[in-house]
Amino acid sequence: MSERATVDLSRFDNSKTFDPGAGLVKRTIWYFTNALFFLNPCFPFRSPKPALLRLFGARVGKGVVIHPGVNIKFPWKLSIGDHSWIGQRVWLDNLDRLTIGSNVVIAAGAVVTKDVPDNCVVGGIPAKVISTIENDLEEPEEAAAAEEAE
Ligand SMILES: CC(C)(COP(=O)(O)OP(=O)(O)OC[C@H]1O[C@@H](n2cnc3c(N)ncnc32)[C@H](O)[C@@H]1OP(=O)(O)O)[C@@H](O)C(=O)NCCC(=O)NCCS
Repeated sequence: MSERATVDLSRFDNSKTFDPGAGLVKRTIWYFTNALFFLNPCFPFRSPKPALLRLFGARVGKGVVIHPGVNIKFPWKLSIGDHSWIGQRVWLDNLDRLTIGSNVVIAAGAVVTKDVPDNCVVGGIPAKVISTIENDLEEPEEAAAAEEAE
């Protein structure tokens, strides 16, 4: 039988060890931005979302698709690579730095707490790699270099 840790939540205080990475004002403005434009199922537009995330310090690549109902903890601790899709009701619970690779699909309802590598599908709670994606698309620079070499 496995041993259980004893935790007294009434004594829990992480204020000295946990760094949210932004002050109260920025966190509060983000809370409402997240609620209005990301979590809100009545905001159907995808195109402003990457720019909004960048405004709050996230690194977001090109062609990123973020579906409605997504909950993001701290955008200033988030990186998303190119052409990655975040499904409906995904929770990016990034208390620490979180990097989502390029060409990634995060399945609807997943809770992501750890980095996600390039070229894969992840899903579940906590999110795990479900399958890998073959990526035979060349980067434009690589394609141009290959053409020049021919
Ligand atoms: C995400 C999705 C496209 C993955 O499809 P896929 O890569 O073809 O994967 P499969 O359906 O073949 O499933 C492969 C395995 O992962 C598991 N799996 C699939 N989706 C899962 C999920 N959301 N959470 C946990 N496990 C999942 C399957 O049970 C299967 O397990 P098994 O091999 O033990 O039987 C598919 O689950 C789906 O359509 N989800 C709902 C819609 C969605 O999230 N779309 C993406 C929005 S951006």
